[in-house]
Amino acid sequence: MKAEAQGAVRVIAPASLSNLGPGFDTFGLCISGIADEVEAERAATDGVKVGCVTGLDEGIPTDASNTAAVGAQLVLERSGKGGGLLLKLKKGIRIGSGIGGSAASAVAGAVAANEVLGRPLSKQEVLAAGLEAEQSAAGAIHGDNVIPCTLGGFILTTPGDPSLFQRYEVSEALQVSLLLPAVKVLTEEARTILPELVPLTDAVVTAAAAAHVVGALLAEDWPALGHAIMRDLLVEPERAKLIGFYSAVREAALKAGAYGCALSGSGPAMFAVSDSKDKAGRITHAMLDTLRAVGYDGSGRVVHADNRGVRVMTRE
Ligand code: HSE
Repeated sequence: MKAEAQGAVRVIAPASLSNLGPGFDTFGLCISGIADEVEAERAATDGVKVGCVTGLDEGIPTDASNTAAVGAQLVLERSGKGGGLLLKLKKGIRIGSGIGGSAASAVAGAVAANEVLGRPLSKQEVLAAGLEAEQSAAGAIHGDNVIPCTLGGFILTTPGDPSLFQRYEVSEALQVSLLLPAVKVLTEEARTILPELVPLTDAVVTAAAAAHVVGALLAEDWPALGHAIMRDLLVEPERAKLIGFYSAVREAALKAGAYGCALSGSGPAMFAVSDSKDKAGRITHAMLDTLRAVGYDGSGRVVHADNRGVRVMTRE
């Protein structure tokens, strides 16, 4: 354990794509350029307090239900140290956007608390705190956002037991056109519409597609990756029925040259894969124009795999 930090510690926790088509609750990919930030410091009063939330989700609860606070509180309790922590949260990832907003806050809160306290917990223990904190918001324990956010790269996790996971680095050659519609989808609700039982034939096609996603990512075979992310027959088709822009956006992405297009997590975020910067720009524009043409607002950008994950920026 190190000495406690004397001033504020700033932590940046990136966004992540989850499911990637057929990998429901199993696949997660950390992405660049969009992140939540937590600044933490020791406080005079006991417990964890969120002083303010700024950025995209300004106005979300600053009480103990905020996943950044839950993550920090778990670390504080498990550290065996007393006293309190003050957090400032800057939301760069909207809650309910489908790219791991609550998970990133949970991870940032847990990591920032551990840094301020002098790293009393191991990396695994901090990861466990992040997973539990995210569970408080999502209602179920699935590590497909928390683990990639923490460790970076592409993660294969295990539904029900996220401590069993594998991590792979992903080439930055992969171009990801990301569409962020200005619509909120709460993961917990988007899970209630899923069927309990599915036909064996659909399960077999989806399992095969999941295997192809892994193989294609590792082989850097982007056309094969694009094909495989569109072969989920179990979850995405159900969710797509409720998302008014889904088919039009997917069609526009493919027409603009994407190898494949899918929802991220429970949506509304959608992503499309390609392998050239110019093409990725055109695909992103096509997706955004189509979204607007069918009556929704939103934003789009090109992102890449982030193999670093959460990072501690300053120690003043
Ligand atoms: N895999 C989750 C879902 C979202 O699709 O419901 C992210 O944890």
